[in-house]
Order: sequence, then structure tokens, then C-alpha cells
Amino acid sequence: MSSSESSAPQVEIKYTQIFINNEWHKAANGKTFPVINPSTGEEICQVEEGTRSDIDKAVEAARQAFHIKSPWRQLEPGARGNLIRKFANLIRRDVDYLAKLETLNGGKILPLSMGEVFLTADCLDYYAGWADKITGETLPSQPGNFIYTRHEPVGICGQIIPWNFPLMMLAWKLGPALTCGNVVILKPAEQTPLTALYCAALIKEAGFPPGVVNIVPGDGPNCGYAIAIHPNINKIAFTGSVEVGKKIQEAAGKSNLKRVTLELGGKSPLIICEDADLDLAVRTAHEALFTHAAQVCVAASRLFVHSKIYDEFIARSIELAKKRVVGDPFDMKTEQGPQISKTQFENILGYIQSGKEAGAKLECGGASLGDKGYFIQPTIFTGVTDDMKIAREEIFGPVMSILKFDSYEEVIERANDTTYGLAAGVITKDLTRALTLVEQLEAGSVWVNQYAPLHFQAPMGGFKQSGQGRELGRYSLDEYCEVKTVDIKLT
Ligand code: NAI
Ligand code: MG
Repeated sequence: MSSSESSAPQVEIKYTQIFINNEWHKAANGKTFPVINPSTGEEICQVEEGTRSDIDKAVEAARQAFHIKSPWRQLEPGARGNLIRKFANLIRRDVDYLAKLETLNGGKILPLSMGEVFLTADCLDYYAGWADKITGETLPSQPGNFIYTRHEPVGICGQIIPWNFPLMMLAWKLGPALTCGNVVILKPAEQTPLTALYCAALIKEAGFPPGVVNIVPGDGPNCGYAIAIHPNINKIAFTGSVEVGKKIQEAAGKSNLKRVTLELGGKSPLIICEDADLDLAVRTAHEALFTHAAQVCVAASRLFVHSKIYDEFIARSIELAKKRVVGDPFDMKTEQGPQISKTQFENILGYIQSGKEAGAKLECGGASLGDKGYFIQPTIFTGVTDDMKIAREEIFGPVMSILKFDSYEEVIERANDTTYGLAAGVITKDLTRALTLVEQLEAGSVWVNQYAPLHFQAPMGGFKQSGQGRELGRYSLDEYCEVKTVDIKLT
């Protein structure tokens, strides 16, 4: 830890209840749950615990808000965009508060929280612009016939988001749903409900009609599952683990075949070719893995390094990792805060143990840090082989696994030998090599000479078990619309 005393400012907690119909409610079961500060392990506050009955209440509010005669449905498309833009601007107005709240609740270093708040507003603006540009098609037909399509909102959307980017995930979910004219029941992760609840107040302030957005905090098995299994929810969008993604798809099948989109985990390969600019490669690989304590779905958690540059690459990577400042996320010198929870913290330490036992070489880190909170040292394993657990499973913690390769035929086989397919990266100056690898990698996003840039116009999603459907970009709108074909005979 850089210091034992926290520079955490007092952050006033304003909203801890369930938001339905633009009003705050207590939980139907009369219970609350604790929200924990991951930097200290101490309780921040209690939040009302939503369960099945609260979800039912939210669905009823959403149903009324979606009635064909409702104020929301009567809005001009451009006016929907204006509301979303207003919400974005309120987020910008409160950037300081929201960033501090995000850092307090999620342990994200303050500059990264600041960045996230701005990206959240920018993402909403991106979607606001779409509101009056969602169109169907006029289709060719014989004379006397008129065929066209209408893109209509799906209706009531359930959205379940994780704790790693609580604000950005909210924008990725609400943005497309609202711009297409849907109504929403959103459940933030139980670890990080606070910024989402503050956003609920901003949604009301922006002027959204009651029931258009409902935010129900609660756990996964009760509150989240009540959304997944609900017979009157038309669509569900989920970001989180593969395990829960499968449960959600099953629940959708068992209930009403609601539309499902899933953004799940990854074990994303980053391939460092022999001609790579080594400085760029080392820095890119470091950030691609360690950003936000590696709690990122696209984290480059399998680093394939060409044998010709392997030794130098690992020497420089170890040097960089050892310099990484871990500690209080409010301290502006800190580069890495805590892991989100005791559970995640213990899982990650378990993976480190398994790496050691499997015979990988622990080059640095490998232990927890400090006597409170959930801090883990930046850790690097070299000599990692494809069969090891640390090379196969998503760790979601600051553990870099470095694997060596000799040929490109070999590395492509190995990179694709995974049940995941969310993202991949290539570092090379050779255009032919880059494009050949891009063509062969099985991943929803492939980045060359950079890692995980964010462009709202570019879709994100997974091949294989990393997900279903796409978020962001024009593609995401298809997930929130039904297509109606109209075929008219001119008599
Ligand atoms: P999780 O998948 O259990 O939780 C994500 C969200 O799903 C939370 O809002 C949670 O309340 C909800 N949920 C949990 N069980 C549910 C159920 N049965 N029905 C409906 N909703 C449910 O993820 P968790 O346990 O927080 O983390 C476990 C692992 O998942 C991480 O180590 C990481 O590998 C992966 N993960 C991936 C994320 C991503 O960005 N793709 C984000 C968070 C976790
Ligand atoms: Mg879980």
C-alpha cells in the first residue's frame, strides 16, 4: 500500500432505495443488504433488497409506461433523443460526485472513474443521436403492392449489469433500449448499486416519464433471476459470467422465449510478434491486462510472445509490473486499486496458487497487499503452458500469464483453443502478418498495435461462449427492435 491512511473524501450517499415509476420504494420483503467499500472491507451503507415482488411492481410500471397512449410512446423520436441527451448532460454536471462515488463503491482509481463518467455521458449522447434515425426499408414489389418494414421497440427490457464498470454498463444498456423507444428494468450488481441509483435520480430530473426506467438493486439468484424468468419481460440483456449467462438463457427458454443478449467473459489472447516495437508491446500488454486490476472482460489474459523476443519482453514486463503503484484508489499516485470483493480476492489468490502448483514460474507479485481491503500485487507468471488452469479460465485479477510461441501456424491454433472468443490483439509492424492473424482469430474484436480502444460506433461482443448478440454501434439497435413487415395491396 502506498499509504495506510486513506485519502478517501467523505462521499454523501443520497439514494439507497428501489426506483420504480420515478419514485423511491422500500423493498417488499422489508430487507436491506450491505454495500462494502473494497478498499477497507467496511460497510458503506445498506440498500433496499429487491426481490420477485419488486420486479413484478417494476414490470407493471413499465407496462403502463409502454402503453400505446402513454406519454413515452407519444413522443416524437427526436424528443426521445433529447431526453437521453439531457440525462447525459446531468451526468457531466455531476462528474465529480459520480466519480468519487464510483471509486468509493467499486475501488476504481479516481482518474479511471472520471474517465468512466465522461464515457458514460458520451455513450448516451451517441445513442441520443440515433433516436430519429432508426428506419425500416421499402422493399421492391410488383406494381399495385407496397411492402415496407417498421422497426418497433421490443417492449419491456430487463437489463442485468456487473460491478466492474457500473456506470458505463448502464449506458451501454440504457442507451440502445431507450433510443429505440423501449422501457427498462435495470438491476445493478449487488456489489455496486450506488452510482446506478444516483443515475435514477438524474433520469427523473431529465424528465423521463414515470416507469420508463426502473432500477431495482438486489442479488443475482432472487432479483436477477426474477427478471430472467419473468413472463412479461420481452427482452433481457446481461453482462457477467458465462455460468450466469447460461442460466439466463435457460430461464428465457423456460418462461416466454424473451430475446436474449449476453456479454460474457473472455480469455483473450494478445500476440506479440517478433518484429513488434518492444516498447509499445510491453506497455500495451501491461495496460491490456492490469487496467482496473484486470477486472475487465476483454483483459489480455493470455500473452503469446514470440521466442525471439521472449527473454527481453519478460524482463521489461517484470520491471514495469514491479513499479506499478497499488493502493488507495483516491490517491492520485495510485495505478491499481483493490479487487471488488472478498470472494473475488480469494478466487484470484487461488488461481495464483494453482499457477505455482502447475509449475509456471512466478516472476513477481503473487500475494495480497496490506492488512485491510482486497489488494493483490501485480503478478506475472512465465513459462505458462496451454493446459494450465491459469491459461484456460478467466481469473479477473492482476495475474499476467506469458506463453512462448515459435510459429504463426502454431500460435493461431493455440490462441483459438478456448471456449471463449471475446477479443484478441496483435502487435506487429508487418501488415500481411497482422491481417492474416486478424482473419484467423476467433474473436468478436481484434485490435492491432493497440488494445481495447473504445469507439461507440464499433460493435462489441463475443464469438463462442463469450456471448450472443452485439452491443454498441448500429448493430446494437437490432437487438432492441422487432421488425414488422407490412404488405399492402393497392386496390
Ligand atoms: P455474475 O455473473 O454472478 O454477476 C453479474 C450480474 O449477474 C450481477 O448483477 C449479479 O447479481 C447477476 N446474477 C448473478 N446470478 C444471477 C442469476 N442466477 N440470475 C440472474 N442474474 C444473476 O458475476 P460475479 O459472480 O460477480 O463474478 C464472477 C466472474 O464473472 C468474474 O470472476 C468474471 O470472470 C466474470 N465477470 C465478467 C464480467 C464481464 O464484464 N463480462 C463482469 C463481472 C464478472
Ligand atoms: Mg456470481
